[in-house]
Amino acid sequence: METVVSGIRSTGKLHLGNYFGALKNFARMQNENKCFFFIADYHSLTTHPDPKLLHSNVRNVLVEYLAAGIDPEISTVYIQSDVQEVCELYLLLNMHAYLGELSKTVSFKEKARKHKDNVNAGLLTYPTLMAADILMHNANKVPVGKDQEQHLEMTRKFARRFNNMYGVEYFKEPVAYNFGQDLIKIPGLDGSGKMGKSEGNCIYLDEDPKSIEKKVKRALTDEGPKVPNSEKPDYIENLFTILRVVSTDEVVQHFDDKWNTCEIRYGDLKKQLAEDIIKVTAPMRERILEIQNDDAYLHRVATEGAAKARENASRILKDVREIMGFKKF
Ligand code: TRP
Repeated sequence: METVVSGIRSTGKLHLGNYFGALKNFARMQNENKCFFFIADYHSLTTHPDPKLLHSNVRNVLVEYLAAGIDPEISTVYIQSDVQEVCELYLLLNMHAYLGELSKTVSFKEKARKHKDNVNAGLLTYPTLMAADILMHNANKVPVGKDQEQHLEMTRKFARRFNNMYGVEYFKEPVAYNFGQDLIKIPGLDGSGKMGKSEGNCIYLDEDPKSIEKKVKRALTDEGPKVPNSEKPDYIENLFTILRVVSTDEVVQHFDDKWNTCEIRYGDLKKQLAEDIIKVTAPMRERILEIQNDDAYLHRVATEGAAKARENASRILKDVREIMGFKKF
């Protein structure tokens, strides 16, 4: 069994793109692996968030992850700042992390350029904290997107360096969890390449059916194909891409045939698409509404998750301290 760690940034609401791009796979992954899913609130401090919003952001993400199928009975779900072992490992790893490599990280350079007035040490050592998240569970698999590959590469470097330095084979070198062809990119409804919050073309997991219908209805179309079996323009292909993930093969085939014979009616396509999106999101929306005010449940999940995570991490930290030469008097 593999050990998987995944950190989730606590920013904003989740949408269909997040669900099909990652969450749905997480829900599957947890049945086959020992999974740790945590909400990276320490990491969010590099940009000095409003203290009044810190907790509610963490809470929103927790609620939506649970609603999307991450099961705290199977996986370990926790809030990063509840597991202080990560701070100690972060400190220890920082002793072997060098200014040269940290300052060369793409994400650091980008953020430093964008926020010249706040180039703090937390930002510089973001990769060390992320390595600590992963190595404190001695994980070997990390589901990450393209933008995090360099951070994962640095985690491997820190792990290798530690092993070499102390002449041990202790840390594993974690690699990206590969979903293979399951990794689906959901396009936006506006004909753009990707569904994204900043693009303003999202369908949120907690979106109500009426609003989903409205958004789908507004999706870009044209007067329809004139030539049988013609290629679909991007904005139509996008609708089919979403249809393929939310509908049955028969439904997709039906509209594909209609397209090919130039008989497609976009009104019908959109009606079906909205209906099937609602079918996927409705149970999540329901669950979100059910648990978002259930303080007792959320308290229990976070508390039990923290305890499980600390138990695992403290075992590993004890070894690390011993390897590095710490001894009790
Ligand atoms: N840096 C990741 C992101 O921005 C979040 C993260 C923090 C993470 N610690 C992690 C991801 C550990 C995987 C493993 O999305």
